[in-house]
Amino acid sequence: MDREGIVLDPWGTSHVKDYRRLMEQFGIEPLEGELIERLPYKHRLVRRRIIFGHRDLEMILRAIEEGEEYAVMTGIKPSGEFHLGTKLTSEEFIYFLSLSPKARGFFAIADLEAYADNKIPLEESYRIALSNLMDMLALGLDPRRVYVYRQSQEMPVMQLAFIFSRSVTYNTLEAIYGPRPFGLYLSALVQAGDILNPQLPHHGGPKPTVVPVGADQDPHIRLTRDLARKYRGEFGFVPPAATYHKLLRDLTGQEKMSKRNPMGILYLTESLESARRKVMNAFTGGRATAEEQRRLGGEPEKCVIFVELLSTHFLEDDKQLEEWYWECKSGRMLCGECKARAWELIGAWLKRHQERRAKMRDLAERLLEEKTLS
Ligand code: TRP
Repeated sequence: MDREGIVLDPWGTSHVKDYRRLMEQFGIEPLEGELIERLPYKHRLVRRRIIFGHRDLEMILRAIEEGEEYAVMTGIKPSGEFHLGTKLTSEEFIYFLSLSPKARGFFAIADLEAYADNKIPLEESYRIALSNLMDMLALGLDPRRVYVYRQSQEMPVMQLAFIFSRSVTYNTLEAIYGPRPFGLYLSALVQAGDILNPQLPHHGGPKPTVVPVGADQDPHIRLTRDLARKYRGEFGFVPPAATYHKLLRDLTGQEKMSKRNPMGILYLTESLESARRKVMNAFTGGRATAEEQRRLGGEPEKCVIFVELLSTHFLEDDKQLEEWYWECKSGRMLCGECKARAWELIGAWLKRHQERRAKMRDLAERLLEEKTLS
């Protein structure tokens, strides 16, 4: 890892301690200053630097300012129910769509990748995708502004993957991803197809595109930007812009999110009772004893409740978040009280979300069948 540089593995576990270094190593630009100022609305994930970097976001800001059309494109593997990580990507997708009436959404259900990476049969991922779409609709996705498709059913995307395979050698793929089964290499080419799909003639041709993703997806973005340049002559592609969010820890404080550690993952669909248990057992920045914590104060910057749950997901108000920080830091509020307060917010959010998503089944089904309702 170290002298060799940081390794980003889209199919494994990436662990980034120092985002400055990551950005320098791969040429990702920080999302800060003037660029943030130019965003018409500053999402919590932008204000709190959870979205820390970008490529070419300037191009999207210009499209917003000049009222020109642009695409917002992302994808999610239907390998399980929505959790906090997929919630992040979905919120970013919805956010970039909300910034201009001229934005058009393209959402890939990555069922081919779920098959190649997780051996999930297509019939099963259909069922999961439907459930995932219910969550996205409940999170505020406007079904009239999005084109939703499954990779396995989208011929133009698979054709692009095949076309790109002309000019990608094994050596290139190995240099980017390491030695991998060919199914994963193919998934990478399909993902490049996903990302450039909005620029095909039947979707209106070349246009600025922004891809909100987690930092671990940057290898795919780099590959796709290269391919866009290589095929500019043939298709007129504009290299896609991207934004990157930080890779978060699981509830138990592990850097690796693993389904084998169910206490680490908070699903948006799970029972309130089970969710409550996970929150109450989450890793905190508490000291060894209550006495010590009153004396020294807590360590909110290390705490999953503070960083991952409140700051990243569930506490919208900046002032309240800052007060919460000092309550902990000063030793006035101990972990028991904090967790109880945090659960009040989280439980209420989950309850409302689950009520909303329950009403979305028909709409999600129609969207999955018809791809677009506009
Ligand atoms: N590889 C992404 C993941 O693991 C899913 C994905 C498929 C995607 N196609 C995409 C992400 C296009 C962004 C853009 O979740």
